[in-house]
Amino acid sequence: PTCHIVGAPVQTGASQPGCLMGPAAFRTAGLPDALRQLGWDVTDMGDVALPDTAPVAHGNGAVRNLAEMIGWTRVLSQAAYEAATNCDLPVFMGGDHSMAAGTVSGVARAAAEAGRPLFLLWLDAHPDLHTLDSTTSGNLHGTPVAYLTGQPGFDAFPPLAAPVDPRNICMMGIRSVDPAERALIADLGITVHDMRAIDETGVAAPLSAFLNRVAATNGILHVSLDVDFLDPAIAPAVGTTVPGGATFREAHLIMEMLHDSGLVGSLDLVELNPFLDERGRTALLMTDLAASLFGRRVLDRMTRSFA
Ligand code: ARG
Ligand code: MN
Ligand code: MN
Ligand code: MN
Repeated sequence: PTCHIVGAPVQTGASQPGCLMGPAAFRTAGLPDALRQLGWDVTDMGDVALPDTAPVAHGNGAVRNLAEMIGWTRVLSQAAYEAATNCDLPVFMGGDHSMAAGTVSGVARAAAEAGRPLFLLWLDAHPDLHTLDSTTSGNLHGTPVAYLTGQPGFDAFPPLAAPVDPRNICMMGIRSVDPAERALIADLGITVHDMRAIDETGVAAPLSAFLNRVAATNGILHVSLDVDFLDPAIAPAVGTTVPGGATFREAHLIMEMLHDSGLVGSLDLVELNPFLDERGRTALLMTDLAASLFGRRVLDRMTRSFA
């Protein structure tokens, strides 16, 4: 099977710089070779570049770097559409989570052309469901899901070839939600397994239920993995740490179940800020999680030392 790796050095959606270095850190951690060792035919497509942008004004004065997010959305959507069309399972290495406005819209267009519904598994501490009007931080990595589901106010963005049906979205690991996001989750009918629910049921039962829904409709699944889904104790390299995140074992189990399902069509690895890492441990963990999704099993996992 084939995998195209695409770098998305986006950092304009985050509050602090550093995600620009994410793709380089994933390459340094050995992501392409880790997937090759699992039998995948991997092509590194390099990094997507942001074209020139002109400032875009917005009524919400808190919003920062709007023109950059719009530009990234345009170029990443096209790159993701091509990658999803030309390989079996593309990986988009971020970059902050605003890049998902591009990657998910691009793979959604490819899924629509293939006549398959797109499902979205959002692994994150946050739902990233602000509109441009509701964000108070102005950090646009908090907005991609609102854009992707076709909420109002994104008129300056590229029009969506295929909006994502909110009922096809499953969020896990959620533990930091702003009031406007809470209201929209309820309105749109997004499935959210917050940390309270995961403490009660574990990750396997809700994930199986969701995967059964994807399979029942011949759907294709995009997985968007935010570093802050993980507990900060094992994944410190992120600007938006929230205590109480997923454990190493929960995260690997999810990735292994996703592999076994055969339903995953594309993957985002987002919010890695190498400037905040400790001897590369977060980049290595995210790389190992990707490897589990690509078929590495517990018994052939390599032992690594961070010391
Ligand atoms: N909800 C918060 C905000 O809007 C946090 C968003 C964090 N998003 C992320 N992709 N890390 O600022
Ligand atoms: Mn996020
Ligand atoms: Mn997050
Ligand atoms: Mn906010």
